[in-house]
Amino acid sequence: MDELEAIFARRSIRKYTSDPVADTDINQLLEAAMAAPSGGNRKPWHFIIIKDRVTLNNLAENHPYGKMLYEAPLCIAVCGDPSLTPLPRNFVPQDCSAATMNILHAAVALGLGAVWIGLALDEHFDMARKYLGIPENIIPHNLIAIGHPAEQKEPRTQYDEMRIHNEKW
Ligand SMILES: Cc1cc2nc3c(=O)[nH]c(=O)nc-3n(C[C@H](O)[C@H](O)[C@H](O)COP(=O)(O)O)c2cc1C
Repeated sequence: MDELEAIFARRSIRKYTSDPVADTDINQLLEAAMAAPSGGNRKPWHFIIIKDRVTLNNLAENHPYGKMLYEAPLCIAVCGDPSLTPLPRNFVPQDCSAATMNILHAAVALGLGAVWIGLALDEHFDMARKYLGIPENIIPHNLIAIGHPAEQKEPRTQYDEMRIHNEKW
C-alpha cells in the first residue's frame, strides 16, 4: 500500500475482536506518535496506555460518544503539557493532533483499527482527569480506542471542490 492509499484506507473503526493488542504493536504506535511534527520540535505530549478493563469501562460509561471503549482492549490518551514548550499554548493541541494522526495511520499499517474520541467540554476533561489521574497542569487532548478490527470500511477520499479556494477566499 503506498502512502496515499494508506491515507484513504484509514477509517474510524469502532468494533473490535477480544484479542489484546501486542506490546510490540503498542510500542510501534508510540514510536509513530512521537515521530510527528510539533512546533519548534518541542514534542509537548504525553501518552497514557490504558488496558485495565475497569478503567476502559469507566471511560466508556462516562464519555457520551466513547461507548466503543467497552469493547476496545486498548486506549491511548493523548495529553498536552504546555510547560514543555516556550511557544504559544495554542500550539499544544495542534502538536497533540499531529501525534494522534500518526497513531491512527500506524494502526492501519499494523492491521489494527482505531478511532479518535474527542475531549472538548469541561466535563470531558474532568472525567479524563478523574479516571486517568491526569494532573491539573496537563491538558487531556483525546482518547484513542484501538483493537483488532471486527468491522471493515471502504477507503474513500471525501474530496469536495466547494472547499477549495484558489489564491484567495
Ligand atoms: C476531533 C475529533 C473528535 C472525534 N470524536 C469522536 C467521538 O467522540 N466518538 C466517535 O465515535 N468518533 C469520533 N471522531 C471520529 C469521527 O466521527 C470520524 O473521523 C468521522 O466520522 C469520519 O469518519 P472516518 O474517520 O472513518 O473517516 C472524532 C474525530 C475527530 C477528528
